[in-house]
Amino acid sequence: MSAADLSELGKKLDALESGLDTAQLDLNALEAFRVQSLGRKGEVTELLKSLKELSLEDRRAVGPRVQALKTKFEDSIARRRAELETAADAASLQNIDLDLSLPASAPPRGRLHPLTQTLQEISRILSLMGFSWAEGPLVETERHNFEALNIPEHHAARDLQDTFYLQDIPLLLRTHTSPVQIRTMESQQPPLRVICPGRVFRHEAVDATHSAVFHQIEGLAVDKGISFADLKGTLETFLKKVFGPRTKTRFLPSYYPFTEPSADVYASCIFCSGSGCPICKQSGWIEIMGAGMVHPNVFKAVGYDPELWSGFAFGMGVERIAILRLGVPDMRLFFSNDLRFLKQFDENLV
Ligand code: PHE
Repeated sequence: MSAADLSELGKKLDALESGLDTAQLDLNALEAFRVQSLGRKGEVTELLKSLKELSLEDRRAVGPRVQALKTKFEDSIARRRAELETAADAASLQNIDLDLSLPASAPPRGRLHPLTQTLQEISRILSLMGFSWAEGPLVETERHNFEALNIPEHHAARDLQDTFYLQDIPLLLRTHTSPVQIRTMESQQPPLRVICPGRVFRHEAVDATHSAVFHQIEGLAVDKGISFADLKGTLETFLKKVFGPRTKTRFLPSYYPFTEPSADVYASCIFCSGSGCPICKQSGWIEIMGAGMVHPNVFKAVGYDPELWSGFAFGMGVERIAILRLGVPDMRLFFSNDLRFLKQFDENLV
């Protein structure tokens, strides 16, 4: 390469370098400059390619300068692009009507489902009366759900509590929370006082007052010398706490295989205070739960001596109590997952 050629190349590089200053004005000019100099067919790229054709000596003379130019361009373009972009972001924020110093809007607050609220309130009252919390599985053995509760196979009471059986395994979805009585007595020695809240299942057509999936709360107290008077006193106190201090209670004889004697327990209608209305079907009373004295056969099934121990049990539907307390006209609403319905029930109001 002649001295003239070399100085020609030097001028060319100077010219290229001076182009960088004008290219720094804005993002478009910068990008155009990048393509023009460093792009696949850019001038610097071409120069680098043409170095191959030079002699080793010439390459040593100009190569490093071209390479240095390329690095300088890359660095300058990247730095300037970052500057220009930050400035553009700041400018666009200036243009929109946005106050970044305002506090963020709070995320929507969830709340407990009305059934959970009701269940917790019932449990709270009973726990203040000395009952502790017990739970059992939703999938049960026939022994826990039926046999140990004095409901033998082929007993007519099984028809009332038809349920879902698991295929090929002798298990079923529990039809009531009473199997938790059995589990508790199998694992603890008396005296004991427990409540067993939870989900239960029945093979049942769904309508405004029936559901195939619903919730119960069971109560069980076992001690020496427990009598029907204890049962009455406990439930009267409980119902006054749930429905108000003027609530009256009524016990009608009934039948449950696992209690003897058994009763259905009614509260005076909270809507008409007992004078008769459509909700209580003009009777003035609303059925709330089943109850009774623990049957000796149940004690025998769990290995308690029925001569030594006595106890009472009761069981109620959570949906039923929620319907009454919250004035809900249709049980299906609880399971519809409709936020317009659910939002009406603030925890603090229940
Ligand atoms: N387990 C009964 C039912 O589901 C309710 C009940 C519980 C009755 C305890 C008496 C004693 O119908």
